[in-house]
Amino acid sequence: MRCSLFVCLIIGALFSYGAGVDPSNFKTCEQSSFCRRSRKVQSAGSKYALIRGTLNTYSDSLTADLINKENHHQFTLKLEALVGNTFRLQIDEKQPLRPRYRVEHALKGKPETTRISVEESDELTITVGTSKAVIHGDPFRIDFYEHDVHVVSVNAKNWLYFEHLRQKAQTPPEPAEGNDQAQQQQQDQQDNSEEVQPASEPIDDPGAWEENFKSHHDSKPYGPQAVALDFSFPAAEILFGIPEHADSFQLKSTSGTDPYRLYNLDVFEYVVDSKMALYGSVPVLYAHGPKRTAGVYWQNSAESWVDIYTTETNVVSSLVNFVSGSRKSTPPVAHFISESGIVDAFIMLGPQPLDAFKQYAALTGTHELPQSFALAYHQSRWNYNDERDVTSVSAKFDEFNMPMDTMWLDIEYTDGKRYFTWDKFKFPEPLTMIKNLTELGRHLVIIIDPHIKRDNAYFFHQDCTENGYYVKTREGNDYEGWCWPGSASYPDFFNPVVRDYYASQYDLSKFKTVSKDVMIWNDMNEPSVFNGPEVTAPKDLVHYGNWEHRDVHNLYGHMHLMGTFAGLKQRDPEQRPFILTRAHFAGSQRYAAIWTGDNLADWAHLQHSIKMCLTEAVAGFSFCGADVGGFFGNPDSELLERWYQTGAFLPFFRAHAHIDTKRREPWLFPERTRAVIKSALLTRYSYLPLWYTSFYELEQTGAPVIRPLLTHYPADKEAFAIDSQLLVQHRLLVRPVMQQGVSKVDVYFPAIDDKKNGDYWYDVDTFQRQERAGYESIPVTDDKIPVFQRGGSIVPKKERPRRSSKLMLNDPYTLVICLDRQGKAAGTLFLDDEKSYAYRNGESIYVNYEFANNQLTNRFITKPLYKSDAWIERIIIAGLGYVPIDATITAKGISQKLEIEQRSNGAIVVRKPAVKMNVDFALKLNAA
Ligand code: NOJ
Repeated sequence: MRCSLFVCLIIGALFSYGAGVDPSNFKTCEQSSFCRRSRKVQSAGSKYALIRGTLNTYSDSLTADLINKENHHQFTLKLEALVGNTFRLQIDEKQPLRPRYRVEHALKGKPETTRISVEESDELTITVGTSKAVIHGDPFRIDFYEHDVHVVSVNAKNWLYFEHLRQKAQTPPEPAEGNDQAQQQQQDQQDNSEEVQPASEPIDDPGAWEENFKSHHDSKPYGPQAVALDFSFPAAEILFGIPEHADSFQLKSTSGTDPYRLYNLDVFEYVVDSKMALYGSVPVLYAHGPKRTAGVYWQNSAESWVDIYTTETNVVSSLVNFVSGSRKSTPPVAHFISESGIVDAFIMLGPQPLDAFKQYAALTGTHELPQSFALAYHQSRWNYNDERDVTSVSAKFDEFNMPMDTMWLDIEYTDGKRYFTWDKFKFPEPLTMIKNLTELGRHLVIIIDPHIKRDNAYFFHQDCTENGYYVKTREGNDYEGWCWPGSASYPDFFNPVVRDYYASQYDLSKFKTVSKDVMIWNDMNEPSVFNGPEVTAPKDLVHYGNWEHRDVHNLYGHMHLMGTFAGLKQRDPEQRPFILTRAHFAGSQRYAAIWTGDNLADWAHLQHSIKMCLTEAVAGFSFCGADVGGFFGNPDSELLERWYQTGAFLPFFRAHAHIDTKRREPWLFPERTRAVIKSALLTRYSYLPLWYTSFYELEQTGAPVIRPLLTHYPADKEAFAIDSQLLVQHRLLVRPVMQQGVSKVDVYFPAIDDKKNGDYWYDVDTFQRQERAGYESIPVTDDKIPVFQRGGSIVPKKERPRRSSKLMLNDPYTLVICLDRQGKAAGTLFLDDEKSYAYRNGESIYVNYEFANNQLTNRFITKPLYKSDAWIERIIIAGLGYVPIDATITAKGISQKLEIEQRSNGAIVVRKPAVKMNVDFALKLNAA
């Protein structure tokens, strides 16, 4: 790493490998004045009431004024009904001193509203289909019902806290002692100003108008402006969501601890089991109980904290209940606290988990269908040193017959961390290197970070300086911070002109040293500023539209992505872009995949890869993964093997490592480890048709690709908190081995009813069937992790080993049919050219396979217009209970006999049906 002495010192201090995160570099709630102030309301309560006579009703919404009965400040409330069992609640000041920030670009579009009917009595009742909202005037509260079940309350705790904007009180001149007249004048002034401007009462907190943290000063020119609101969930038992934290899937009570923090930060070597903020902030939270799931999307891009109160650790309430004999526990509560902005909350009423996930996806969108290479295996490290290194690593995968789709280049490929340039010594011929890769069916991804080197000879810096494209200081100068290049500035991606400029840099006429197949990694976009407060940008910087960085911090990475995504689309409108991002906000899933940042090569971080990605998936980010092997540190063989096996079942599958770690490409390990890694890679490639179909269905429906068990087993309380297992759609159940030295692991098979009946689950390697719900101890070996296919599902696979996914395009399919108790199964398959947008014009095959009465049939969900050379090579059926003598396939009016082979545990294989993917057929098993 080349850097100036000063930068090296800063980087060294922050990132000296092995030191681990120092939590004291990051604020606690107590050190953050708005958090501290807003949290206080939990003991005092607030007094807000609806002002009678201000109600206006419209076809899809109503508005009314709210008053803070303590300081008489007034607010406007708007409650809107959205299509799909969702309400939107907005509260803003009626007459703010200056406009308050409203989040832009997170929603995928303007949400569609729906008709309401309003009934006015003591309360206001707003009815939409089977749901309703009941607004209570004083104290102000809204209760939401789904089919008459009370699922969400807003402000039931009276923790609504809205700091109106105010003039900074001038410190009054000390009246000279004994000057009664002057004292009287001052008192009069204060009294009058209270009448005219009741909003100017001071806030009694030393951090209200300026705040210091370590050596950093926040000037807070607009003073206190926090917003906070509580949500209670009477029908729920657990809460989950609000990534990104290295914590359990189920949110823990924050009583006695800090709240969960949402503030995009570059936290290296982060600790696990922590509520500390990380790189992304997605303020969506779900509440789940056996009968109902609901959710809240708190749309605010300022720094936020979320307090969680659940009965789980609420000892006092349990004691009270115990003593009083009451069995009713207090409902879980989430208290959202943000530094600025308005209250903009979407209340999603489910009623089931998948409904709530889809309601959130309907608001913020989904990742579009990725190209197949993006779902295959990625090989990265910081750094592949030069062109020879890249070429030889790629060649080694071939030598060892291991599939690999994408090579990655980290920051060292650039000319001195000037993005859109190459180091001419290490990478003299990038286009040749890229061509060599793409000819093998592989891809290259390069990193492009948002910080721009302040070098007057660098074209990008010149353009940004001349055109005023950088984020500004309060005084109107270009903000200057420190990052990889040394002194750097940060483009203001909130400005559409800057985004256009940035997007245009990806055009091949400008960025001539890449091809249109080279994809992009956007890192450090929290933004990371090595010498900034908490390693990020100061809050009093100024963005386009005169918004403070404070208002929009959590959106900066999102805006960066919008520029990149537009750039890649403009560069090649035919090809689906692939972008990986570290920072993310609600809606960033429309542009990019994410990974969980700078984890460690240890077992706890391996375990957290599943927990974190499950939480991200329900918050819209199905396309999630973790650095395989761990970013910091050197994994031993066992950890690396288990990490590959786990990573193979997370949607984004990439090995990556810190520059100071030992090289760890698979062939550098002993034969046994190589074999395990190869087998994990082959397993991943064999399931690519399932991943691909799942991502298509994510785009179509918003249903996450990976899911927590409660998604499909919502009434099974034992399954609620399980975060060591995941479902791939509702087809596979994966329980990776994430402990050292074990020969068996406990797998939980979820129950489908009160009597503890479960689905059938078939081991994907042996077809051995699990018939009972509950924990089962499953033996594992080096080469095996427990993966089960659900009885009742059909999984498409491709089983011919290839160098890369591109070469599998026309390979034949295997259908694996696992039967349920009724001897039935069904499952979809989607296929197209795996690269372009032609599928959006119908050039695809989307088919549902169904097995019943010993017969397999297909039904095209859309007209099969894609011309594929692929065909069905084999059909595996597990759970038949007998061995047929043969099978008959009928397609295009012609019937043919097919041979049957036997597999373990009674599974059979129908060999070579040889039917093309777009042809209707029926395949009948013939009993003896
Ligand atoms: C931080 C990223 O999290 C890491 O993956 C990357 O290798 C370094 N930045 C260097 O670019």
